[in-house]
Amino acid sequence: MFSKFQKATDKAMVFLQNKALSTVYIPKQKLHMAMNTTSPKVQLLFDLCKNSFTPLGLPSASPQPIHKLCSLLDTFGPADVGLKEESPDDDRGHGFFGLNRVARWAQPITYLDIYECDSFTMCVFCFPTSSVIPLHDHPGMTVFSKVLYGSMHVKAYDWVEPVCIKESREPGYPQVRLARLAVDKVSTAPCGTSVLYPKTGGNLHCFTAVTPCAVLDVLAPPYREDIGRKCTYYIDYPYSTFGNGTEISNGKEEDYAWLAEIETPDDLYMREGVYVGPAIQAEEPSDSIPALFL
Ligand SMILES: [Fe+2]
Repeated sequence: MFSKFQKATDKAMVFLQNKALSTVYIPKQKLHMAMNTTSPKVQLLFDLCKNSFTPLGLPSASPQPIHKLCSLLDTFGPADVGLKEESPDDDRGHGFFGLNRVARWAQPITYLDIYECDSFTMCVFCFPTSSVIPLHDHPGMTVFSKVLYGSMHVKAYDWVEPVCIKESREPGYPQVRLARLAVDKVSTAPCGTSVLYPKTGGNLHCFTAVTPCAVLDVLAPPYREDIGRKCTYYIDYPYSTFGNGTEISNGKEEDYAWLAEIETPDDLYMREGVYVGPAIQAEEPSDSIPALFL
């Protein structure tokens, strides 16, 4: 998923380490040692994802795989993916509302790629206080998010159907599309897993770290720009900016917003870290066992 953020624009300040080092095949004896000293939860998650998803996402509308994944993810803590909970004191005093550009540039969001294949991505985002992943979408995707530690503010929208678009009336005004607020809350660990779907549950979302926090994500299927699953960023305008009430048939004006597409924000400051959690045993090639050692 990190690579999708990077592909979106060359303006984002991201520092990609050598991806080739991320996935290695380790000898069986070394893997044996690793498996004996680590939690199996991430392996269970991998196995469940492998059995649940196809390159087109969930093979059926059955809620059973979703319930199983949520039940397993609900049990995850930071240690299950090799993380240690960051102290809330490590926020340099900026706090949730003390956001400024200097603070945000000071510490990047760290992305840990656990596993990615044609059918799903397993990854972790580690946020310093006040850091933000701006409003972005997940076209045609289902995303499971589990806050592993800390507090995270989530604001999420779904597109209004049928599509409602306002074209630019004056130079400088963007084309905007109507969306409805689906989620606006702070999630604090320990808490349940949240799920967004292609058209419901808040497919477009923005994360703001209230305290140092980490989120384990499963995306199914993964971003894939060449077939239309591109990560696009948006800015939201209050409904009153462009609306006159005629578009709303359900709910209040505060429940709606106009979204305009934007380039990847300049201040999205993300780097790829090294996953040091339990190795995953995937399929076995000739004489070694493939494991993700990210
Ligand atoms: Fe997302």
